[in-house]
Amino acid sequence: MRIPIIAGNWKMNKTTAEAVTFVQSLKKELGQLSDRLCVICPPFTALLSVAQELKGSGIEWGAQNLFWETEGAFTGEISSRMLKEIGASYCILGHCERRKILKETDEMVHRKVKKALAEGLSPIVCVGERLEEREKGITFDVIKSQVTQDLEGLKKEEVLRCVLAYEPVWAIGTGRNATPLQAQEVHAFIRKLLGEQFGEEAASKVRIQYGGSVKPDNIDELMAEDDVDGALVGGASLDIKSFARIVNFKV
Ligand code: PGA
Repeated sequence: MRIPIIAGNWKMNKTTAEAVTFVQSLKKELGQLSDRLCVICPPFTALLSVAQELKGSGIEWGAQNLFWETEGAFTGEISSRMLKEIGASYCILGHCERRKILKETDEMVHRKVKKALAEGLSPIVCVGERLEEREKGITFDVIKSQVTQDLEGLKKEEVLRCVLAYEPVWAIGTGRNATPLQAQEVHAFIRKLLGEQFGEEAASKVRIQYGGSVKPDNIDELMAEDDVDGALVGGASLDIKSFARIVNFKV
């Protein structure tokens, strides 16, 4: 049984004061969740305040990035140890905005995944094809290359602590989501790859989120697909009503 996991990726949005107000409302909107998990990923500056606010609520939280070294001369970077110290559980890694704007490669994502796991964090590892890659018919090749490299050499128990997020780049922030069928097709493919890399048992347990223009009006049909185990939500996670409705998806 895979417990669905809905995560909000706030990106570079919300001041600490705004974040605290948001999570206060979110706690009221969601109450105690029993059959699903909600995770919030605010900017670094709001993490501590959000963590304090979420204590005892059952809502989890994480960061949007980390660096693969433990400490040292890496100006502007944040280590997994710093995140662990303040109680983070999750960290989004390999998001397409970082791959595109900050030129993160699969090799870098892989190092970050390893470091997050070594520190006891659960990485949310994002993969997804660009529009031109889908149009060229090489979606599966791109996904295979990313999944294989990003998770290379992990132990089975490590991969079980990862969450995968399929985020077609053309669907992110565009209002154009993948159809449930398109999502299911790639999710099933990712599960097959995980089976080949880590064995069937691990593959059947790892959760695969869909991300890319998830909204209150498409979440239910996406979650109805067999291999869609949750969502990574950007824009719609910034609005309390939208995000609460997404977390409260119905199947
Ligand atoms: P979006 O972003 O929901 O705004 O499309 C998703 C993401 O970038 O994780």
